[in-house]
Amino acid sequence: MIVMTEKKILIVYGTRYGATEGVAIKIAEIFRENNVLAEVVNLKEKSNFDNFEDYDGLIIGSSIKIGQWTRHVKNFVRNMRLEIQKFSGPFGFYVCSGYASQEEQYQKVKEEYIPDRLTEYGISISYYDAFGGIIDFSESSRMGWLEKKIMKIAGSQAAGLPVESEYTDLRDWDQIEKFALGYLELVKT
Ligand SMILES: Cc1cc2nc3c(=O)[nH]c(=O)nc-3n(C[C@H](O)[C@H](O)[C@H](O)COP(=O)(O)O)c2cc1C
Repeated sequence: MIVMTEKKILIVYGTRYGATEGVAIKIAEIFRENNVLAEVVNLKEKSNFDNFEDYDGLIIGSSIKIGQWTRHVKNFVRNMRLEIQKFSGPFGFYVCSGYASQEEQYQKVKEEYIPDRLTEYGISISYYDAFGGIIDFSESSRMGWLEKKIMKIAGSQAAGLPVESEYTDLRDWDQIEKFALGYLELVKT
């Protein structure tokens, strides 16, 4: 008798304004639609894992602010670097970043925010992508006044970021779906 065990993927993320969280939830939905179990964890709420032996796949997602991952993602990667290095399943990484949505910046920030950073922890990666983020100047924004100010200045310098609109979601859901489906291929083979 052949016993089919379900594949299980862990998606951990760090978010500031919600874009990275939304992407984690979307990726998990796509996995579940394809009969793969997905566990989604906000690293702010839980970050202690002994190892990743229970999982067939591991994806880390991070928000980018002033060129940096969130503190929780940094701590997680630092603390778990040996476990990540020896993890046998496919390892995926994504970021949500304002500049990733700008065609002329995309390739540069994708390399800078993911493989270049991971190298500092002795971790190599072959499956990763950079998605756009959320730029929210509305009353209900999670940005404080200083962050709004920084974003207005930095965003307008990086020509093309829509700093005049109240709320802009720069995530490309087709790109995100492609990332999730491509990852599933790696897990299933
Ligand atoms: C204060 C501030 C600084 C930011 N710095 C950067 C940056 O250096 N590079 C970038 O690509 N995007 C930058 N962004 C845009 C964020 O990456 C974007 O808002 C994204 O949605 C963040 O992910 P999150 O929503 O999961 O927190 C910045 C946004 C703010 C508010």
